[in-house]
Amino acid sequence: MIAVKPSGQACGATVSGLDLATSLDAAAIQAVRAAWLEHHVLAFPDQILTDVDLERIVLSFGEFGSEPYFGTIEGSEHVVALTRKADEKAPLFAENWHSDWSFMVEPPIGTCLYSLVIPPVGGDTGFTNQQKALAEMPAGLRARIEGRTALHSAGAAYAPDGMYGAKDQAAGRSMAIRYSEDAREVHGHPFILRHPESGRETLLGCLGYINGVEGMVDDEALQLIVELHQWQTREEFQYTHKWQEQMFVIWDNRSVLHRAYGGYDGYDRKLHRITVAGDPQKYLKAQAA
Ligand SMILES: [Fe+2]
Repeated sequence: MIAVKPSGQACGATVSGLDLATSLDAAAIQAVRAAWLEHHVLAFPDQILTDVDLERIVLSFGEFGSEPYFGTIEGSEHVVALTRKADEKAPLFAENWHSDWSFMVEPPIGTCLYSLVIPPVGGDTGFTNQQKALAEMPAGLRARIEGRTALHSAGAAYAPDGMYGAKDQAAGRSMAIRYSEDAREVHGHPFILRHPESGRETLLGCLGYINGVEGMVDDEALQLIVELHQWQTREEFQYTHKWQEQMFVIWDNRSVLHRAYGGYDGYDRKLHRITVAGDPQKYLKAQAA
């Protein structure tokens, strides 16, 4: 029997009563999806999963997402290893708040992580609920983004001169990052979106991948994006996820921002990641058929 226990924070829940290594039936998939839309981040502890299992689970949620700037692990076209070695000197990866690949024309709707090696201290993942942030946003701030298009780009992170570009590779990062000139491309998304499945209003992305506002001069745009970021990441919208080994987590990139925390120097950390893409309406029709 599936049991969903809310974290007690602004989002997140722990799910028990399911073995994700087996094929889930339609009723179980529907229950998990409903919990996912309600809590935005779901953690399934004590799961013994292979990379093939991870791929199968993704197909229960949608389609395989692409990883424009990561190399995948040997034997899979979809699974990426998030690794950090005990003595690694490169800066912590993904320490800034973001929604995964929000600069894509069709960003992944979800991201899954499965924990293989977890340090005894630190290494939490932060989440911040963007439906709650928008619902409680001061009217004045909301008026400044209403109807506006945010300009997203991966340039600051994944261009050759970006945060994870050539210099970073030279610093001996263990993750397989593939920086590229393509990262400078810019795609616009509305600041405020209606979640295609729950129908609730939400915010997509933040400072970092958002680095401009359509029709606004740079100084004014930056000021707005910074102010918005301060609101989006307030403590009362947050959930701090604590990892255990053999834990599967899936979050909704349309509902939350996330970030990595450090604090585990001297320990290895390794998780496998896979993203979920796809038109949810198409997905839901496929499930019903
Ligand atoms: Fe991320």
